[in-house]
Amino acid sequence: MSITARFSARFSTIAFALMSLLLAAVPVFASNPARDDHSVARLDEVRVQQVFLDLDLSFEQQTLSGFAELTLQWKNPAARRLDLDTRDLLIDHVSASDAAGHWSNAAFSLGARHPAFGQPLNIRLAQQATKVRVYYRTSPQASGLQWLRPEQTLGKVKPFMFSQAEAIHARSFVPLQDTPAVRFTYTARITAPAGIRVVMSADNDANASGQGGYRFAMPQAIPSYLLAIAAGDLAFKSLGPRTGVYTEPARLDAAVAEFADTEAMIAATEKMYGPYRWGRYDLLILPPSFPFGGMENPRLSFITPTVIAGDKSLVALIAHELAHSWSGNLVTNSSWKDIWLNEGFTSYVENRIVEAVYGVEQARMQQVVGQHELKEEMQSMAVADQALVQNVKNRDPDDAFSGVPYTKGEWLLRTLEQRFGRERFDAVVRAWFDEHAFQSVSSDDFLAFFGARLWSAKDAPMQRNEVDGWLYQPGIPKSALLADSSALNVVDAVRSEFVAGKIDAKALKADAWSTNEWLHFLNGLPVDLPVERLADLDQTCQLTGTGNAEIAFRFYLAGIRADYAPMRAALKAHLIAIGRRKLMVPLWTELAKTPANQAWALAVYQIARPGYHPIAQNTVDQVLGYSPPQTR
Ligand code: BES
Ligand code: ZN
Repeated sequence: MSITARFSARFSTIAFALMSLLLAAVPVFASNPARDDHSVARLDEVRVQQVFLDLDLSFEQQTLSGFAELTLQWKNPAARRLDLDTRDLLIDHVSASDAAGHWSNAAFSLGARHPAFGQPLNIRLAQQATKVRVYYRTSPQASGLQWLRPEQTLGKVKPFMFSQAEAIHARSFVPLQDTPAVRFTYTARITAPAGIRVVMSADNDANASGQGGYRFAMPQAIPSYLLAIAAGDLAFKSLGPRTGVYTEPARLDAAVAEFADTEAMIAATEKMYGPYRWGRYDLLILPPSFPFGGMENPRLSFITPTVIAGDKSLVALIAHELAHSWSGNLVTNSSWKDIWLNEGFTSYVENRIVEAVYGVEQARMQQVVGQHELKEEMQSMAVADQALVQNVKNRDPDDAFSGVPYTKGEWLLRTLEQRFGRERFDAVVRAWFDEHAFQSVSSDDFLAFFGARLWSAKDAPMQRNEVDGWLYQPGIPKSALLADSSALNVVDAVRSEFVAGKIDAKALKADAWSTNEWLHFLNGLPVDLPVERLADLDQTCQLTGTGNAEIAFRFYLAGIRADYAPMRAALKAHLIAIGRRKLMVPLWTELAKTPANQAWALAVYQIARPGYHPIAQNTVDQVLGYSPPQTR
């Protein structure tokens, strides 16, 4: 059944239900550009062009409330309806303005609730309104917002709130056409309690007082998943002429030191891929419950504090979020099945930035680590989920999240670079960004654009059928070259000897290892490593409780497998403190494998869960078979 048919099931008036049934009977094709599988928007009828948000932020109620004003561009002269995506929004009323600027109430109804897609808000208009205002409030359970109590912050005094809209959570805090096929500019006025700074994915002013509300403008058109807001005790420090950091005051100095190379990263990217087109580039360092590593909200990337290792060794994540300013924010996947166009291109550009700023050996090591992790992950992945073009129809895009769009996408682009030569390939990538700036693109667009410039000739070093294999087949094509790093080859050699018991941990000479050498070493440990080996490693290298969250995560995974008891307290602290999915979901998954560990995990999860983001709670609930007490 199509989304339309499912969503059409419960409209309030009979006439409207009949009309919807008729519309749903019209066949909707998989590649229909008028529809996105994850949105009820009818893109061939009307498009949201501009948004104004007038919202009050209340920590007491845990709500945003006010109105969203949508400026509409009508595509079909016969259309009289506006279908918006919502999720757990409480709609108060809707009004519409005519060409003369007169506002009047508009009839609306909410359709049936889908667990992942939410509820369609169907607005019936007497005429093609130029503007529509939806008066609403969010639910405290909004899937795209996290409300933190003061205890959950570093300062412990003021509350904190942040949004995470990608992929389809914007609809839980703003009623809109929640699809990356639609772009809009936005302005906002947000009122918040005294002492709280509000920031958005827009023109933040570090000197704004917030009196009478914070005001924002985002003059570049963005898709809905890049709408973002955060509020809390935020201080600001400049990093360079167009870069700076917002975070809680107690984290500011550490963040400024860690991310000092941000300006150099922008310069390096511009040199390769053209101008940075968004004005400023600031970082917002969030509390550790942020469920992702980073989120490329335009002008203001949202970043996990778990990348502050003290030695800049995890700042490739900044390169990644910055890279999205070209791949993703400028040239955007038109629907979530093509997310590799965002994440694969970005992983490739990320690695090119790392190469330009930190050198080729560093970049190679990251390729090797990524490729190994992808191969490992694919072993336990459904074959159907291993193609670059993902089958996410009728699925929550969050459930399809994997390393495939990232690392396999990056690998395809690197393969093209190798076959056609860097100079030629770079020119095509740059043209791809320039010629699709502020547009949404599909895998078909990719095939047409890159095909015409690279593999159209009969004797081209790579042919279309090979590219199709990457896009539509599982696994990694046999012809793909593995990345190679001499430093990591050394790690492989000493790891083998260590595992076989031929050398002890001291002989690894690991004190000189960089983070990537550690990650590679730990990733390659066998699942049945004897616990004595792990104990020797820990006693020699002090891994339990390490301040590097990526190293800690891999060590604890090995520790669970080997049943290494001395790291339990640190593992527990890690699981409670860190809500970043990548650094904790695999640990819960490993714990769920034995009854004793599962019982221990459930007890720890009781403590950890209240601090996790709704998206992360949802994932871990499934992993542990935990059913939360019903709140609604
Ligand atoms: N855009 C993603 C995060 C995302 C993807 C959120 C899909 C929701 C759905 C972001 O750019 C990202 O990829 N973050 C990574 C960082 C990274 C260096 C690979 C992460 O969060 O781990
Ligand atoms: Zn990304």
